[in-house]
Amino acid sequence: ERTQVAIVGGGPAGLMLAHLLRLRGVDSVVLESRPRERVETRQRAGILEHGTVEALREVGADARMDELGLPHDGFELRFAGRGVRVDMQELTGERVMIWAQTEVTKDLIALRLDHGEPLVFDAEVLAVSDVETDSPSVRYRHGGSDGEVHVLHADVVVGADGSYGPSRRAIPEHLVRRFERVYPYSWLGILADVAPSSHELVYARGRTGFALASMRSPSVTRAYIQVPNGTDPQSWADEAIWDELSARFALDDGSFTLSRGPITDKSVTPMRSMVTEPMRHGRLFLAGDAAHIVPPTGAKGLNLAVADVRVLAEALGEWFATKDETLMDAYSDTALRRVWRASHFSWTMTTMLHVDPDGDPFDEQLALSHLHHIESSESARRALAENYRGLALGAL
Ligand code: DHB
Repeated sequence: ERTQVAIVGGGPAGLMLAHLLRLRGVDSVVLESRPRERVETRQRAGILEHGTVEALREVGADARMDELGLPHDGFELRFAGRGVRVDMQELTGERVMIWAQTEVTKDLIALRLDHGEPLVFDAEVLAVSDVETDSPSVRYRHGGSDGEVHVLHADVVVGADGSYGPSRRAIPEHLVRRFERVYPYSWLGILADVAPSSHELVYARGRTGFALASMRSPSVTRAYIQVPNGTDPQSWADEAIWDELSARFALDDGSFTLSRGPITDKSVTPMRSMVTEPMRHGRLFLAGDAAHIVPPTGAKGLNLAVADVRVLAEALGEWFATKDETLMDAYSDTALRRVWRASHFSWTMTTMLHVDPDGDPFDEQLALSHLHHIESSESARRALAENYRGLALGAL
């Protein structure tokens, strides 16, 4: 088996890359370790930056997004019993789109299959080899533990296989720098069959911790609360979740009421930051979670993955067309500029809005001071809004 680009991982990064490469006349094979149903039902974040929306339009995966996605002009920060609106549209001229990663992934899969282009599910990658040569390869087993073993030869391998995927290990350990931060709390996330209580997202620093009110549609609420690390989602009764959300979102003037409804999904997400450098070794390029993880606050994970593959598709398109390596050589540095900006933004949003259980009062005052500054300064709000809606490459 042979292709131009072997893509390990059929999440949004790998699939989007395959589409962008196709538009540039470059062939690829996408190998995904999980079955299709698993990829299509995984609950992740739901905010698309302007640039991510553009990329979905470019590849033609925009029809359902335009029909069902919810454009948002702003969001609210809530603390000390009051709210501050950040009007992204007014401050930056751009808005974001609420459209779940799960739906993005479904559309990218359907489009790939419509094109009749190779996308292999249940393909467990056993080894990524020879990335220091001009003919790297990927060995994989297809269809379970007694499935057949294949070797896919390529000009380039892209590791878009998440933070626990095998691709990253093909870079020799002594060449890798790894940066990591583990946060001392997790998110308990719910989906509920009830209309959102606010027409925009609300990020709250409540007395007992963070809460986020989001949505998936006009009739489905998505919400999160900060919980201790190691929390079992089933240890939280539905009513206790609603009570806690209600307390954390409460406004002093009593003007906010949280609507409750049947909870259809509960899960706990740990929070960490991770960056591995470089994002390229020889003919192996890493993209998305394989190279970096951000905590969910601010929803940068998917957007970073799409930003990576936009840069990478440009670079590989150029190289296959002309053999000019300039963009390819710049890929890691270019992508990492955005990765570090988003890592800082996600860290800022996280630490500003969560209550650290180890309770340093100094940190608490810093967080409140940052919120006060955002409340009183338009330039502080603009800086936050620019990061939230995503920055252009030149502004990173
Ligand atoms: C959602 C998740 C986020 O992390 C965020 O910042 C905003 C929205 C969500 O799942 O809807």
